[in-house]
Amino acid sequence: MRLEPGAGGQDRQRAGRVILVGGGPGDPGLLTVAGLDAIRNADVIAADRLAPLSALAHARPEAEIIDVGKIPRGPGVAQRTIEELLVDRALKGNTVVRFKGGDSFIFGRGGEEWQACAAAGIPVTIIPGVTSASAAPAAAGIPLTHRQLSQGFTVVTGHVPPSDRRSTVNWEALAQSGLTLVIMMGMANLAVITDALIGYGLDPATPAAVVADGTMSSMRTERGTLTDIAARAAEAGLGAPATVVIGSVAGFTPA
Ligand SMILES: C[S@@+](CC[C@H](N)C(=O)[O-])C[C@H]1O[C@@H](n2cnc3c(N)ncnc32)[C@H](O)[C@@H]1O
Repeated sequence: MRLEPGAGGQDRQRAGRVILVGGGPGDPGLLTVAGLDAIRNADVIAADRLAPLSALAHARPEAEIIDVGKIPRGPGVAQRTIEELLVDRALKGNTVVRFKGGDSFIFGRGGEEWQACAAAGIPVTIIPGVTSASAAPAAAGIPLTHRQLSQGFTVVTGHVPPSDRRSTVNWEALAQSGLTLVIMMGMANLAVITDALIGYGLDPATPAAVVADGTMSSMRTERGTLTDIAARAAEAGLGAPATVVIGSVAGFTPA
């Protein structure tokens, strides 16, 4: 452990800790005040590609900044390496910020990182972030709920397609739920997903939208129906990061 001069000139042992900071959907203005404060005070920052990286300009000059997007990929490899890194730096007495896009607990592996830290006896603080699940649609003018259109929404990953045996999502129930569907990480499987929803009885004319780079200056939105949204998005060249909205609200216009 590192020793630091304490109050009254005495040395005190400094305990390390990890702060999971949800950085918001991309626009640096949507990083919370608490998140920015954590960045300002961190000894180590482990940052994801989708975090609002311009905020790192506020880090202390001596802070160690680690681009975890550069960690070699492989089944579970990158995630394990990140967890080891957080634990290692915290055990050395550092205040470590894990800086990621959106909210750490929405498809952000924040729960896994917390478990890894807890197993090593490291205290963890959670600073919630603005999730792209709601922020990207909102920035594109799509209200996920509306008293006349939708009484709720479901957020689901499209990373594993409906027909895949690894899928634990009940797509049939979603098709019949009457709720707005928000699909994250679904661009590669969008055509398969929309076909499955139609197959399970969702009206092919249901409005649908894809919001790419939501809240950023590069944001692009494509609107259509369940039938044509995958082709429209592909034609427009929309890719990750993108959020898909399916339901009446995707056709919302305020006037
Ligand atoms: C690994 S998940 C992380 C989600 C993040 N924890 C959150 O709460 O927003 C990555 C997915 O989030 C969505 N996403 C992230 N940033 C986005 C943005 N700015 N606009 C649209 N979708 C975004 C995309 O579906 C992307 O594939």
